[in-house]
Amino acid sequence: MTMVVNVCKRSGSLLWLSCLIHLKRCSGSGSTEKGRASMGKNYVLAGMVGVSDYETVAFTLKSAQHRTDYLGAQPLTNLPKVDREIFLLSMANTAKELNHDKFVACFYHYMFREGFEERLKSEKAKKCWAQLAEDYKTMPHGEGEQFYTEDATGLRGFFIRYFFYVMLGTDTEDPEIMKDLVAMMRGDTPIAMCYLWPFAVPNLMGSTIKKVDDRIFNSSSLAKFVEGEEKFANMTKLELTRLTTCIMRLAAITGTLQLAKSVTGGLTMPPFEDMDKTNVAAEWDKLDLADEQALQNFCLEVARLHPPVSSVHHIATEAFSATIQGRVVDFPAGTKILVPTNLAMTDVDTWGVDAFKFNPSRPALQEKNMVFANVGKQGTRVCPGQYLAMDTCVEILRVLGKVRREGK
Ligand SMILES: *[C@@H]1O[C@H](CO)[C@@H](O)[C@H](O)[C@H]1NC(C)=O
Ligand SMILES: *[C@@H]1O[C@H](CO)[C@@H](O)[C@H](O)[C@H]1NC(C)=O
Repeated sequence: MTMVVNVCKRSGSLLWLSCLIHLKRCSGSGSTEKGRASMGKNYVLAGMVGVSDYETVAFTLKSAQHRTDYLGAQPLTNLPKVDREIFLLSMANTAKELNHDKFVACFYHYMFREGFEERLKSEKAKKCWAQLAEDYKTMPHGEGEQFYTEDATGLRGFFIRYFFYVMLGTDTEDPEIMKDLVAMMRGDTPIAMCYLWPFAVPNLMGSTIKKVDDRIFNSSSLAKFVEGEEKFANMTKLELTRLTTCIMRLAAITGTLQLAKSVTGGLTMPPFEDMDKTNVAAEWDKLDLADEQALQNFCLEVARLHPPVSSVHHIATEAFSATIQGRVVDFPAGTKILVPTNLAMTDVDTWGVDAFKFNPSRPALQEKNMVFANVGKQGTRVCPGQYLAMDTCVEILRVLGKVRREGK
């Protein structure tokens, strides 16, 4: 057992190396996949116990959980704070801890309710889509090419302009505002310097974060903020602001951008079996762009095999034991448990022997997927942006699919 743990600690530091080089892999579908391959469904990785069969992961996602400052297997620091804990991923959602769900409700209320549908259909939103199509036409858009690497234009520029506008009503046509947003939302380095341990410990991005806080605090969605609402656990405007800044960087822009890259062939699929040889763009070209369900399934199948967030975690509240390499091992309360949704979504016992094959018309994809920390439509801590993320990726397939078919 000691040996297993040591080996795993080593792969923990390897995880760090790969993290430095390639941040989007930092919660490590490669590493967790190696853990399962060498140690079976239960294993120890980077000091966490991983439990990877579909049913156990599904049960966890549907249960209340205790948490700590982790994003999957990735320790976080410099998280948003005012006077009390507000960072959703770190908060428990048990019967006694009600703030988590009330803060989610507050976030949802201000981002996705009042004025949201109007913003989605507005002229400003249409301009974002037109700009995206134009950038796709004029920029090389193979993997690693300009469309996927620019910060203020191309795919990332689109997500920054569009999400800040539709969620917050931020005037992203103002170049001064865009400058502040791009400084924090650009490339892959700021995410580490803002929030990933240990890079974010010195808080070198503090003033950059503060500028985005100010833009969000002054955005039109928060203009009518009501303080002291019990249904939102009295969340303050400053608390919601700081939380939102962090969510925009860690999840909204980073996560959805990865999914959008993957579904448009801008990111190679993982090398499971012959997955990395799947030509996602060629499959996209065969889709019926009027078939909403088919487009959704395409996104879900890409995300099943290459999820933007590959795992979540929770903290054991009681001692437990797990069978690891044929031996029953006891763990104390307080042990961090990795919940690798990526492994559950490729568990052959649930998905069948073709679990590693790309098949957007596989049965029950909608009901069984865990892409947004959900189990189909269920889950206690599902990503609040799941519908926006999915709808946006589907629309990207449609809008850019049309450009491709017009011969660009
Ligand atoms: C936000 O609004 C306040 C009050 O209107 C103003 O003093 C401040 O300069 C604004 N900040 C930004 C970044 O626009
Ligand atoms: C919200 O504020 C009210 C009134 O001050 C207080 O009674 C209540 O305990 C507060 N709730 C939370 C969750 O802080």
